[in-house]
Amino acid sequence: MKKILVVYFSQSGQQMRILQSLVTPFLDAGHEVVFEELQPLERFPFPWSAYEFFNAFPETFTQQPIALRALSSNSLQNFDLVILGYQPWFLTPSRPVSSFLQSKDGKRILQDKNVITVLGCRNMWLGAQEKVKRGLKEANSKLVGHMALVDRSGNLTSLITILRWMFTGNKDSFWFFPPAGVSENDINHAAVFGNLINEAMQANDFDNLQDVLNKEGAIEVKPNLVLLEKRGQKAFSVWARFVAMGGAVHSTGRKLRVYLFMYVLPTAIFILSPLLWLLSRIMLIVKRKQLDLEVSYYKQNSLR
Ligand SMILES: Cc1cc2nc3c(=O)[nH]c(=O)nc-3n(C[C@H](O)[C@H](O)[C@H](O)COP(=O)(O)O)c2cc1C
Repeated sequence: MKKILVVYFSQSGQQMRILQSLVTPFLDAGHEVVFEELQPLERFPFPWSAYEFFNAFPETFTQQPIALRALSSNSLQNFDLVILGYQPWFLTPSRPVSSFLQSKDGKRILQDKNVITVLGCRNMWLGAQEKVKRGLKEANSKLVGHMALVDRSGNLTSLITILRWMFTGNKDSFWFFPPAGVSENDINHAAVFGNLINEAMQANDFDNLQDVLNKEGAIEVKPNLVLLEKRGQKAFSVWARFVAMGGAVHSTGRKLRVYLFMYVLPTAIFILSPLLWLLSRIMLIVKRKQLDLEVSYYKQNSLR
């Protein structure tokens, strides 16, 4: 019997449902699975007001740690595998998750462990996973597998449906828009990944796990999103400094800057998305090798 720890954060319950589906093969095989939810002492709102959402940006992007409720003593046992279920916030691991990675308990739990990361998000996760890889490296753990479950609608469609979901709590379809978030099919399909992880765990051999997971669609990387993320990371580091320079969280200076960011960000995504899609088509012809290398990089687990 193996012991698996699942550490996660989830506001709507989406991430938790993905993980529950993923671990069914472990439970069927008789392994012990311990779920540990990350709980910020000061809870983040859900649904969010638009202001609260964008106001969370600078400290999330710069990964400033917040206090988390003490983890249960169960989570400090010795586990054969740790699964980290998280979501990106502003191209960065969500604040509870980046706080966990920086915390003493987090480092203790992750040290010398085989770790698997599972994402449930809109579609922009590449940079967040790089930051998680760094955190795992600092904790001296070994990333042996990664799955990214995304909203498969177009980039602009999911921007609208996910923002509506975050601001109202309603993820249902409306007008001609599909439901927001990871589809039920993809949530159920996570059990297939669980089976593959189970086989690797039984054989105690994780060397080829990512390849077999990828054959089942664990990581799909769109070249236009590689370009959009690169630009996003650069622009966000400037914006994070700009908003933080507005002063204390409740100051007028900060508020004005958050409102500016609130209008500029969605507008920039709307304008840049089609342009970068076009650019990625051109780059696929002109600089195919370079872009292909980028895509392959994000489909594996080492850190450059
Ligand atoms: C503040 C905030 C920022 C987000 N930023 C991103 C992002 O950069 N990329 C992305 O793909 N999804 C982003 N999302 C969507 C989340 O990754 C996730 O899909 C959603 O919050 C549902 O997850 P949960 O209910 O399981 O926590 C963001 C959500 C929030 C609340």
